[in-house]
Amino acid sequence: MDVGGAVCIVTGASSGIGEATARRLTDGGATVVLAARRADRLERLAAELPNALAAPTDVTDRAQVERLVARALATYGRIDVLVNDAGQGLHVPVLDLDPGDLRAVFELNVIAPLALMQAVLPGMRARSQGAIVNVSSATSLRVFPGLGGYSATKAALNMLSQIARLEFAEAGVSVSVVYPSVTATAFHQNLRAGALARGAWGIIPDPPELAADAIIFAITSGEAHVLVADPPRPIVPGGDAWGALLARQSPGAAHPDVTPSAGRGEHGRTSR
Ligand SMILES: NC(=O)c1ccc[n+]([C@@H]2O[C@H](COP(=O)([O-])OP(=O)(O)OC[C@H]3O[C@@H](n4cnc5c(N)ncnc54)[C@H](OP(=O)(O)O)[C@@H]3O)[C@@H](O)[C@H]2O)c1
Repeated sequence: MDVGGAVCIVTGASSGIGEATARRLTDGGATVVLAARRADRLERLAAELPNALAAPTDVTDRAQVERLVARALATYGRIDVLVNDAGQGLHVPVLDLDPGDLRAVFELNVIAPLALMQAVLPGMRARSQGAIVNVSSATSLRVFPGLGGYSATKAALNMLSQIARLEFAEAGVSVSVVYPSVTATAFHQNLRAGALARGAWGIIPDPPELAADAIIFAITSGEAHVLVADPPRPIVPGGDAWGALLARQSPGAAHPDVTPSAGRGEHGRTSR
């Protein structure tokens, strides 16, 4: 799907990766619908981006999701691209996981993307085209102690996305998953509970623009799984995904023979 001229809903557009994606999409000639809860930030961004629409939305509220999609359709007549970026971390050991916290993060990281996919699909199907990108996490490609709650939601999103990809193919709609590593956003200040995994402090975070580039690559290529890297890297989870992630963390280590516990305490790259 070409980005130029596309109408794109971006959730989580009020900061971080979502904001960077909205800027990159606009640079590429797209029209963006900016969705998140903080209306003031969306209004400021919309004022900077030609033709953008600020659409304050709590994506965990299905009625608000339906209003968002109806407003985008009423304003622009179609939706070509959906980027499900809104998300939150939950970085505590399994023993300390509060079920209420896990339910809340599951609502945001899994149920909200589902509601958005369901809301945009009929219009995309009617036009036999569309691209959906769900923002997951590299934490769902390896096994990191302390990230059980968060990684479980992203692993659920991965599987939902892969099955949606098969089911939506007949409608001409691609569904892709993008896997950022540690990224320099407000994410780690906004965790539902817990803190960045022990040992991860030495990681050099990626700029959010790197994740935005991977999201644009997923839209334009229709690749099923894209690891955030420079350049973005298509991967096969269960195939080369671990090797690609490890190679990215340690250049030269193409496919080392490691067990999941070898990654303890790290969930991003240590050097570029
Ligand atoms: N940063 C990282 O290290 C990292 C690594 C891997 C994956 N990711 C993933 O990347 C995505 C973006 O995160 P980020 O790093 O850009 O963090 P961020 O700056 O904290 O952005 C999170 C975004 O989600 C929005 N959001 C949260 N709850 C919402 C709700 N109920 N309804 C609508 N919007 C909501 C926030 O906006 P409002 O508060 O205005 O609603 C904000 O725009 C997430 O899915 C995250 O899991 C991040």
